[in-house]
Amino acid sequence: MSTKEFEKVLITREEIKDAVEKLGKRISKDYEGKELLLVCILKGAFVFCSDLVRNITIPVTLDFLSASSYGQTSVSSGNVQIYKDLETDIIGKHVLLVEDIIDTGLTLKVLKGIMTVRNPASVKICTLLDKKDRRKVDITPEYCCFSIPDEFVVGYGLDYSEKYRNLPDIMVLSRSVYE
Ligand code: PRP
Repeated sequence: MSTKEFEKVLITREEIKDAVEKLGKRISKDYEGKELLLVCILKGAFVFCSDLVRNITIPVTLDFLSASSYGQTSVSSGNVQIYKDLETDIIGKHVLLVEDIIDTGLTLKVLKGIMTVRNPASVKICTLLDKKDRRKVDITPEYCCFSIPDEFVVGYGLDYSEKYRNLPDIMVLSRSVYE
């Protein structure tokens, strides 16, 4: 892999591990005695969610929802496509949507709306990364590991054109790769 593909490491694997452990503890405390369902938003959140769930110490169930608003481009279309819906009935459950990144907020706004009309006990949002400067709609995560600047990041589940999801650290992609 050429070093020119990346400008720098933005968040190391050690920093991620530390933040995810803390988040797992916080969620375990907040949802104690409640029926917690983690909803992993595929594909990007699969790495974060798999680490997070192993740091949750209370009973928890898991489901997966596959959605995308970017397709093969680097610009959010705002047109959220659901490729795979939940298999779980969420009525009366405490749903925690697990995302890798919030950018414009369009994806989560749509997904939160879809979940809310299904009558869960609650719907909250948990994200690894939050790019607040890019927000187009009003959406705030209840749980967030890192606020990041407006840079194109990949790794730890995040992709550019389906590549780089396997990288253990969060990297800033060089402009030359996507422009
Ligand atoms: C990414 C990410 C979020 C969304 C955030 O998904 O996982 O779901 O974009 O962007 P937004 O806040 O501007 O809506 P993407 O569409 O790239 O699909 P992927 O998770 O399969 O990579």
